[in-house]
Amino acid sequence: SLPPPPTVFLGKDANLQDVFAPMSDLLPMVNPNDIVLDGWDISDLNLYDAMRRAEVLDFNLQEMLKPYMQQMKPRKAIYNPDFIAANQSERANNVISEKEKWQQVTRIREDIRQFKADNALDTVIILWTANTERYTHVTPGIHDTAHNLLEAIKANASEIAPSTLFAVAAVLEGCTYINGSPQNTFVPGLIELAENEGVFIAGDDFKSGQTKLKSVLVDFLVNAGIKPCSIASYNHLGNNDGRNLSAPQQFRSKEISKSNVVDDMVQSNEILFSSEPRRPDHCVVIKYVPYVGDSKRAMDEYVSQLMLGGHNTIVIHNTCEDSLLASPLILDLAILAELCQRVEFKVHNPTGVSEYQKFNSVLSVLSYMCKAPLVERGANVVNSLFRQRTTIENLLRALISLPPLNHLDLQSKCSQRSLWYEQSVDPILVRKNLKFNSNTSFNETVKGKERTIKGY
Ligand SMILES: NC(=O)c1ccc[n+]([C@@H]2O[C@H](COP(=O)([O-])OP(=O)(O)OC[C@H]3O[C@@H](n4cnc5c(N)ncnc54)[C@H](O)[C@@H]3O)[C@@H](O)[C@H]2O)c1
Repeated sequence: SLPPPPTVFLGKDANLQDVFAPMSDLLPMVNPNDIVLDGWDISDLNLYDAMRRAEVLDFNLQEMLKPYMQQMKPRKAIYNPDFIAANQSERANNVISEKEKWQQVTRIREDIRQFKADNALDTVIILWTANTERYTHVTPGIHDTAHNLLEAIKANASEIAPSTLFAVAAVLEGCTYINGSPQNTFVPGLIELAENEGVFIAGDDFKSGQTKLKSVLVDFLVNAGIKPCSIASYNHLGNNDGRNLSAPQQFRSKEISKSNVVDDMVQSNEILFSSEPRRPDHCVVIKYVPYVGDSKRAMDEYVSQLMLGGHNTIVIHNTCEDSLLASPLILDLAILAELCQRVEFKVHNPTGVSEYQKFNSVLSVLSYMCKAPLVERGANVVNSLFRQRTTIENLLRALISLPPLNHLDLQSKCSQRSLWYEQSVDPILVRKNLKFNSNTSFNETVKGKERTIKGY
């Protein structure tokens, strides 16, 4: 079963009471039941056997899912042992035979086209949920421009990660590509390629547990004037992700993605951090402990300065199934990305040109689900979970012509409410080629054909 969809604050009713609505009811969104899943894996196990091997779900639930999972088998994947931990080699028995990198990209493109045609799909969105790779050494002449990247792939340059090859294939097929792992798949040339092709990319690394909490807690501490001076985060886990991350180069990718998460919150208060320490000491440790399996343990200690030399220490111990935190994010990312693909908007500009446009290729609105958000050139990285969530809510509101969220609630605070006057301002103009029939279903015209899609 899926977790219930989150609700969003809509506004006040006539009695000044707050009104909330499920996020998925605000706009026509893909019903998860309409999503067809396929994928690649270097391991050939069907999904039932893979589920048994992963030991995440309860045995009875596994048996109930068996008829569905057993039929699903991953396609052969691009494998390069140089990029993931050596301990993964024993499961690499489902590898495409093509050795040249351009041939590999071509093969993945064929897979995408075949999958799309076989299932009569409107759109394909690709997410990297495979192992964490080591960082790519970004080199001018190879990774810096779209042209150089494509030429380097054709020349079979060694320093190009499988994830980058998958992403290039996706972009060339016009498919949104989302990176759920921490490595630097999105080298500059790939970002330029996505821009040239008008395709969305988003990432990096699912923000599921420890980092999500950190991006709430540090925001709270800094906003409360409590200065976090040391943040020590320990993790141990025993699943295959933990096994892969036990190799130093793969751990390094994760360490980088986990380390920068407090930067924007620290920078938001120069007064608090005007004296030493000018930023918190931040240390991240991940250890592989096979016995705990997918039941990941995250232990965090936050030491903060209070006024007059006081100290505050917060210790958190969080235990949960790692995979069950990440899986809903995969759906959320795909559903929100698909919605963004359909949005065109005009910025109301009475003095300039107002033309319909799409979002920037770097889809930073998905940052809410990402540990190390990829943002548009020149834009600030926002890690604060509250700010990220508000961005999504305000976007959805704008698309239904509601003004941005404002919790001022001045109307209630007036001593003379009868004097209240509210003027509606020009909303962002949205091309509405979608019509709601009811709260739960809507009609959409795709390639000249009308079809009904159910909301959820
Ligand atoms: N809570 C979470 O589970 C969580 C949170 C944030 C990020 N992540 C990241 O998501 C990724 C997946 O995590 P996981 O726990 O599912 O790991 P996992 O090891 O259980 O699964 C990864 C799968 O990728 C396959 N694989 C490896 N290289 C491949 C390639 N080149 N092509 C295709 N398949 C390949 C492996 O065979 C394996 O089945 C990791 O990078 C992890 O760090 C997970």
